[in-house]
Amino acid sequence: MRKRLLTVVVILVAATALVFSRVIAQDSTKTTTETKTTTTKTTTKTEVAKPAASKFEYVGKDKCKLCHMKDEYSSWLTTAHAKAWEALKPEEQKKDSCVVCHSTGKDAAGVLLTGVQCEACHGPGSAYKTQANMKDKKLAMAAGLTQPTKEVCVKCHNDKSPTFKGFDFDKYSKDPKGMHKIFPKKTVEKKG
Ligand code: HEC
Ligand code: HEC
Ligand code: HEC
Ligand code: HEC
Repeated sequence: MRKRLLTVVVILVAATALVFSRVIAQDSTKTTTETKTTTTKTTTKTEVAKPAASKFEYVGKDKCKLCHMKDEYSSWLTTAHAKAWEALKPEEQKKDSCVVCHSTGKDAAGVLLTGVQCEACHGPGSAYKTQANMKDKKLAMAAGLTQPTKEVCVKCHNDKSPTFKGFDFDKYSKDPKGMHKIFPKKTVEKKG
């Protein structure tokens, strides 16, 4: 009897969390406080954290640009990753077999995010992109921010690439042709 009630409650909470994460993914402008609530919710109820966690969605580079424009974004623009879409001929831009590695999050909700954008390396940003999450690495990681390790790069830098000429993480991750510059951590700042 109690077990049954518990199951019902768990399902209800899970459904609510799911709906919340959807709403947040769609609404990108005024989510700071809402997201925070959801994050707390999902982390305290461990049962729910897992299914909700897989719901992180790709939001696209313009969202990151809002706060990272002057540094990482401008620097990224100068890299081959920012131009990876233009490297494909128009007919190749229609081929899934080329698009997978020359775009970001192929499964992004109905939108094709062209080029190797921020989220290709940092993970889908629907939940971590809020100011509160971003300022705290632990919170950001819990909300889907990933460490751009070698494993992330070799999803694309492998011999399935027709132009593959090997991949050396230590070398490539310092090569300005592919990597944006690293900027010292900013202190808390006001937008304006
Ligand atoms: C509302 C503003 C805002 C948005 C939007 C935003 N960020 Fe951030 N981000 C910050 C702040 C503030 C920091 C912490 C200070 C710093 O390191 O510059 C940060 C830090 C980071 C870090 C370093 C985390 C760490 O501690 O190592 C990464 C990586 C990052 N952001 C990536 C992204 C990506 C990718 C996007 C888009 C999906 C994004 N950010 C969107 C404000 C934002
Ligand atoms: C090719 C992969 C890749 C792409 C694309 C990429 N980054 Fe990064 N980013 C990295 C790596 C690698 C680091 C260093 C991580 C470390 O040393 O912990 C990093 C570090 C950062 C940091 C923390 C260091 C700092 O500069 O303050 C921020 C913030 C960041 N990236 C934001 C972005 C944004 C915004 C974009 C898109 C405009 C982006 N990145 C695109 C790989 C990438
Ligand atoms: C497995 C991921 C992957 C696939 C699939 C892929 N590419 Fe690429 N592509 C890359 C990577 C990574 C690079 C950077 C060079 C390298 O290390 O291969 C690249 C570079 C390129 C370049 C720039 C060449 C240069 O030397 O600067 C062109 C053009 C290109 N790819 C075309 C294509 C076409 C056309 C297809 C489909 C037939 C395709 N790619 C499929 C990952 C991929
Ligand atoms: C989503 C696929 C993808 C991911 C993930 C990715 N790359 Fe790339 N990378 C590419 C493509 C495609 C190109 C070629 C773009 C072009 O030349 O137009 C490229 C080009 C580069 C180049 C320039 C190579 C050259 O000689 O021109 C460097 C350096 C590089 N990547 C480093 C990295 C590192 C380091 C990581 C991981 C932190 C990473 N990449 C993650 C797809 C990816």
